[in-house]
Amino acid sequence: MPTPSRSQLLQILLLILAGAAAIDGKDEQQPITYPGCPDKCGDISIPFPFGLMPGCFREGFEVTCDHSFDPPRAFLADGDRNRITVTERDESPISDGSYLSNSDSNISYWPVELMDVSVDRSVARVYGPITSACSTNSTNYKLEAQAMTLGSLTGGPLAVSEALNVVVGVGWKVGVTDGSSYTSSSLACRSELPGGHLESARNGSCAGRGCCEAALRQESSTSYGPVTEVAPELSLESNNSLWETSPCSYAMVVEKSGYNFSTPDLYGDKALPGRFPRGVPVVLDFAIVGDAACPQKGKRPPPNYACVSNNSYCVNATVGQSGYALSYVCKCSEHYEGNPYIANGCQDIDECKFPDLYYCSSNGICKNRQGGYDCPCKPGMKGDGKLGHCAEKFPLVAKVIVGTTSCIFVIVVMSFIFLLRKEKKKTREFYEKNGGPTLEKAKIIKLFKKEELMPILKDSNFIGKGNFGEVFKGNLGNEVVAVKKTINGNLLENEQFANEVIIQSQVIHRNIVRLIGCCLEVDTPLLVYEFLSNGSLHDILHSKGKKPLNLDIRLSIAAQSADGLAYMHSKTNTKILHGDVKPANILLDDKFVPKISDFGISRLIARDRQHTAKVIGDMSYMDPVYLQSGLLTEKSDVYSFGVVLLELISRKKAIDSDNNSIVNDFLEAHRRGERATELFDSQIAVAEDLELLQNLAGMAIECLNLDVDQRPAMTDIAHRLLIMKESRNS
Ligand SMILES: *[C@@H]1O[C@H](CO)[C@@H](O)[C@H](O)[C@H]1NC(C)=O
Ligand SMILES: *[C@@H]1O[C@H](CO)[C@@H](O)[C@H](O)[C@H]1NC(C)=O
Ligand SMILES: *[C@@H]1O[C@H](CO)[C@@H](O)[C@H](O)[C@H]1NC(C)=O
Ligand SMILES: *[C@@H]1O[C@H](CO)[C@@H](O)[C@H](O)[C@H]1NC(C)=O
Ligand SMILES: *[C@@H]1O[C@H](CO)[C@@H](O)[C@H](O)[C@H]1NC(C)=O
Ligand SMILES: *[C@@H]1O[C@H](CO)[C@@H](O)[C@H](O)[C@H]1NC(C)=O
Ligand SMILES: *[C@@H]1O[C@H](CO)[C@@H](O)[C@H](O)[C@H]1NC(C)=O
Repeated sequence: MPTPSRSQLLQILLLILAGAAAIDGKDEQQPITYPGCPDKCGDISIPFPFGLMPGCFREGFEVTCDHSFDPPRAFLADGDRNRITVTERDESPISDGSYLSNSDSNISYWPVELMDVSVDRSVARVYGPITSACSTNSTNYKLEAQAMTLGSLTGGPLAVSEALNVVVGVGWKVGVTDGSSYTSSSLACRSELPGGHLESARNGSCAGRGCCEAALRQESSTSYGPVTEVAPELSLESNNSLWETSPCSYAMVVEKSGYNFSTPDLYGDKALPGRFPRGVPVVLDFAIVGDAACPQKGKRPPPNYACVSNNSYCVNATVGQSGYALSYVCKCSEHYEGNPYIANGCQDIDECKFPDLYYCSSNGICKNRQGGYDCPCKPGMKGDGKLGHCAEKFPLVAKVIVGTTSCIFVIVVMSFIFLLRKEKKKTREFYEKNGGPTLEKAKIIKLFKKEELMPILKDSNFIGKGNFGEVFKGNLGNEVVAVKKTINGNLLENEQFANEVIIQSQVIHRNIVRLIGCCLEVDTPLLVYEFLSNGSLHDILHSKGKKPLNLDIRLSIAAQSADGLAYMHSKTNTKILHGDVKPANILLDDKFVPKISDFGISRLIARDRQHTAKVIGDMSYMDPVYLQSGLLTEKSDVYSFGVVLLELISRKKAIDSDNNSIVNDFLEAHRRGERATELFDSQIAVAEDLELLQNLAGMAIECLNLDVDQRPAMTDIAHRLLIMKESRNS
């Protein structure tokens, strides 16, 4: 691997840094105001359209930040319009509900302090005023009336929210009234404690016992139109019997749940304002005003249109509803959040992070996307996870079926594996039983795998059946082979079989069928031989429709077969007898060269083991001496060869269907001292060949001698036949 160069390293480093920056960027808070504008005052966020500096706010939304406090506090600017007016004076209520002022009013003004702003709800919260009246004796009160004014009568962008605030009164016997009416019938709410039992008040309850609460009505404002001014008033007890313990009563407009009644508020001097030193929370609606409304669909937005963010929309607002001015607010589209009043303020919500708000079934996979999210069901389920409809794709019955099926399948597979292993074990056992290890050590013969030979053993390849077993023709690689499947495995057992195979495989003679290899992995071993195209001598001689062989070929077949047998008999250390010499076991190749096959019942004749327990072979060719004694010798093969010779010259079966034996016929003729001319095959019995045929017959008779010692040896016969053949050719 080539090492990166310096510049490459630098690039990589830059990439890493860029990646880190990108991650940082993601983490960073979305901008809430114009670039370059401060977005905070102390702890309070100031999102556009609110702003602290020229160019950073929309008209009517200016905020000032008073850094003399720590932390700094934010106030609505334009103190002439946005302010809290405090009026102080001594008063004595008189019984008809009106008041007698005992002193001149001392009036002062405070700016409206901002608590927080929420652009997505189009609201801001401020600290609102608390009006209080505290007894100085049983008939006199010191009143501190506080009223909040927002903008002008022609309407500013801010107004007290009717929906989100309530009017609250606190006192042991007090009514709260809106600013426009002074009659007890129009009281917004009334608080009483029967008998003056202050203890019966309950914390947190503003149901009229020490505390009362009412919806904010439009009449609460001192003018018709947007609720830009709130100044609730108190209707007080004219003879305050509890003035010493419970001197103060209060009235206020406050955010719903923004004031929590606490019984100590009923006692002492100004306990309640002590709990809310800056005022109680009041919710203000804000909107874009100035006779502005949402543009109609398809119409071009007005200049200075406020909803500038992508994925935002416009809503006609109610802030200016009483006709003073049209107004609207901007909202982020569904599945977006942020500030619709600035470019790109509305950002996609990753709904998957808020599973409580955006439902996705526990069987679904939550996937965020621009402008929404998806909740596809988990694999194997169908339905819509958003609707909680993820259901198993397969009903119980199907599952049971599938389960059962898989179970059966598993069992089948397991059984198969088990059988396969058993089969493998069996294969190994057979291999060992059949002497595989011995053959392996000998390393002289090809050991075929079961799988290689099994395809050959099919009916269409069947070519014949002998004593030994069934024979199939097949291809192994480029070679045409004959595969012999022994019928009776017990014939050839264990080591003995292996030894026999070794011996046979060592036999390399042009007149012996070559053993190519074997397969020991089956119960009865399979032997693979070379395939000979002209079939057996038996078929050639006796099948109808076959062209009769001429004498030369027959002589050649006899001579070469004899040579093959002689070779087997003469092998020095291990004499191999055939035991079943007959035309069916003499195969012919395409040039009619004979090859002796089927040493299936031949035995390895150890010097001291000449007996074979069983006599197996074709009776027509069987040496009667061997049948009597059970002792197989090479002379038994000589006898059989004699029969083959007779069959070659007569082209008659050794014993035909009429139970005629050519052996008997020839022996009879021989005994009578006659020439057996009429016994010869008429096809070859031409005058000039009769001599030769007679010689062959004579040789056969020698082979059939019941005195085995009188029979010539196979080598002798082979030699004589060779001479006959050669003298004839010359
Ligand atoms: C009003 O202010 C004056 C002068 O500051 C003061 O003397 C007077 O007591 C005040 N009156 C009330 C009711 O607070
Ligand atoms: C209450 O106080 C005012 C003046 O402070 C006085 O004029 C009045 O008489 C007093 N009333 C009672 C019942 O003491
Ligand atoms: C109400 O709560 C305050 C403290 O918040 C407590 O001092 C007072 O005793 C409570 N009153 C009642 C009636 O429980
Ligand atoms: C209101 O006060 C009572 C007692 O003082 C308390 O138990 C209750 O939790 C408070 N409620 C809120 C909303 O603050
Ligand atoms: C106020 O009530 C007390 C007793 O409840 C009574 O004695 C007194 O005369 C009343 N005062 C006025 C001015 O009505
Ligand atoms: C908002 O109000 C204007 C004026 O009344 C109207 O033309 C427009 O269709 C309204 N837009 C919406 C979205 O209601
Ligand atoms: C806003 O949306 C418009 C089309 O709706 C698009 O052309 C524009 O690029 C978007 N702006 C940004 C900053 O994504």
